[in-house]
Amino acid sequence: MSTAPAEGLPASANSGRITVPEIQKRKSPRNSAGQPQSRIVCLTAYDYPTARALDEAGIDILLVGDSLGMAVLGYESTLPVTVEDILFCSRAVVRGASRALVVADMPFGSYHIGADDAIRQAVRFIKEAGVAAVKVEGGERRLDLIARLVDAEIPVMGHIGLTPQSVHVMGGYSVQGRTTDAADRVLRDARAVEAAGAFSVVLESVPRELAARITAELSIPTIGIGAGPDCDGQILVFHDFAGWNYGHTAKFVRAFANLREEIAQAALEYREAVQSGAFPNDAESYHAAAELREKLCPRQATRPIGTRR
Ligand code: KIV
Repeated sequence: MSTAPAEGLPASANSGRITVPEIQKRKSPRNSAGQPQSRIVCLTAYDYPTARALDEAGIDILLVGDSLGMAVLGYESTLPVTVEDILFCSRAVVRGASRALVVADMPFGSYHIGADDAIRQAVRFIKEAGVAAVKVEGGERRLDLIARLVDAEIPVMGHIGLTPQSVHVMGGYSVQGRTTDAADRVLRDARAVEAAGAFSVVLESVPRELAARITAELSIPTIGIGAGPDCDGQILVFHDFAGWNYGHTAKFVRAFANLREEIAQAALEYREAVQSGAFPNDAESYHAAAELREKLCPRQATRPIGTRR
């Protein structure tokens, strides 16, 4: 099998998928105001139909985030999420997406024991689920680890600012980088992630001005969540974006739909239809052929369909 792209086509047009180098290139084009001309659009996804719908809508990156712990599995934090959970969801998302770059989040505990173990876990996401990259939380303290992953041919998306896996150390989920010292720390984290070879970095819950400074300084794309509009791209958790969450809604969230209400309303209508016998109707039923019908219900067999009860 040839691995060379067809002549004249970029690799992604050949394979159908957006590639890591293409995401990196999206950093460069800026207009005269210094704004990126083609922002990178990202959402989380955890299953096949969602991945398929988002992919068809042209979302560039689908992150199988450990936010699935809260958004889908009902945990209070992301900490209980396992490698198996992310693998299971990543396989479904990869099957559903034919264009988007799929990134698997490395869950808490999967990269904390040592670099060898982290590489082993990350390789599973690439080999067993078919994702193109992994995401790792943390800045300076992950420099060596990210470098080892990149050295093992595993593209890494960094994640700095508010890192939800550090919830116990941070004492909650709060905006990071609000003081001069704290902003310096986030800036150092950003530089470290870039120096380690990450292809992009998520900036979560930091002041807009700090995100703008990091975006201007780094040569890799920044993907903001709660980091203002000046990043090279944006990401939201699917259930926040779709208006289908149950917990606290952060200030930066905009719901682009109200699925929670729509699903509740649909369930109410379904319940009423089943209870009243309106669902399913005759057109929604299979029918036996005349001969079998005669045997099964002789008295009704000759009545036209639709008049039987
Ligand atoms: O797990 C997740 O969904 C994330 C995004 C919020 C970036 O890390």
